[in-house]
Amino acid sequence: MPPPSTPNPPPTVRATPNPTGPHATGRTDHISAGLADLLIRASRQHGGRLADYIPELAHVDPDRFGIAMTSVLGRSYRAGDENTFTIQSISKPFVYAMVIDELGLEEVARNVGFEPSGEPFNAISLEPDTGRPDNAMINAGAIVISSMVPGINTDRQVRRMRAAMSAFAGRELELDEAVLSSEAATGDRNRALGYLALAAGRLDGSVADAMEVYFQQCSLKVSVEDLAVMGATLAHGGTNPVTGDRVVSELAARHTLSMMASCGMYDYSGEWMIRVGLPAKSGVGGGIVAILPGQFGIGVHSAPLDARGNSVRGVEALTELSDYFGMHLLGHPRSPLSPIVSTRDCDGVHTVAVRGELDFVSTEQLVHHLLDHCEQAEPATVRVDLSAVTRARPIAGRLLTATGDDLRRHGWEFQLLDSACLLTPDGDNATR
Ligand code: DON
Repeated sequence: MPPPSTPNPPPTVRATPNPTGPHATGRTDHISAGLADLLIRASRQHGGRLADYIPELAHVDPDRFGIAMTSVLGRSYRAGDENTFTIQSISKPFVYAMVIDELGLEEVARNVGFEPSGEPFNAISLEPDTGRPDNAMINAGAIVISSMVPGINTDRQVRRMRAAMSAFAGRELELDEAVLSSEAATGDRNRALGYLALAAGRLDGSVADAMEVYFQQCSLKVSVEDLAVMGATLAHGGTNPVTGDRVVSELAARHTLSMMASCGMYDYSGEWMIRVGLPAKSGVGGGIVAILPGQFGIGVHSAPLDARGNSVRGVEALTELSDYFGMHLLGHPRSPLSPIVSTRDCDGVHTVAVRGELDFVSTEQLVHHLLDHCEQAEPATVRVDLSAVTRARPIAGRLLTATGDDLRRHGWEFQLLDSACLLTPDGDNATR
């Protein structure tokens, strides 16, 4: 990448706890206070330089530093500064999710791969034999993805892209016109990547059209709270937890998180996964979005960048945050929670009440309880009450059906109380 060159002056810390969002109350907010402490500590990092290869990006206050978290229940927490900045490369996973949702993974895979490039974001990272960009989180792949946004002309594609980005954020995102013209005026390297993709037969339409969508998606203005909500939408399986709108399918969200986990921080992605352990994406505007699937979206912003194009203080804050809140995705979860809330023996019926999500590990525990009970008792009736189960993965249905068949063969009456038909879903293979 062209080196960012404006030196970063020492920061002044403005990290004030400031709970926001739909559930804001006057109560003491220890989560935002924890975020504020993280910002103060991360502000001690004085390194980094503003990106100025897009001249307009150098006109920002390098001291501004903010962070926000939104849970999959739609609650938000924030500390630090409240400014907006351009989303830049953080747009890549969200446009990717939308295109996968529209066209499916296999169609997208014809044009863009899935492997980390280990190279800077603007490198010519194309597969030697196919000319396919290595992945969609680097410029080459993202430009191809932009060309695949559905629409009969560029105008429609841009509108579609902006509608999807706004749906992720839960509010209408606006363009920074000055950054857009600056991007377009200095975007020849990106155009060159577009021409290479076109020559390899990987680009849909013209380079100029693809660049129009790409430059506009990079020039949308967001706040850290927007990033947190956008991240929380992916964390929540594609449904915006604040608006309740489904933005992309659960499967598209999962594919996107997978790409962010392996490629989101460019040539820092491997070390990022070790130290932070959250799918993430950074942008040269100084923002980073990080996601703990099923739990939180996090947005952070501080403009000075390291040599790889990642926000110096953003990386520092998220490294601390992952540790402070215990968010590393691959941390050892200790003993799995038992799904069994109670057992009752009454009139020859052994009733097992189960709650929460029936995934593989909880179903495995339930099945063992049933088999242990039935081995030790004379055949009678065993009943599994699923009325407090929130969701059952297909594996739960398969294991419980097979176990029920076994028990019946051994003389047991096996009953499943499943009034919500959780074990016979209508084929949502995203939950497999
Ligand atoms: O393609 C570009 O040059 C920018 N508009 C986006 C690059 C970017 O954000 C890379 N991220 N760290």
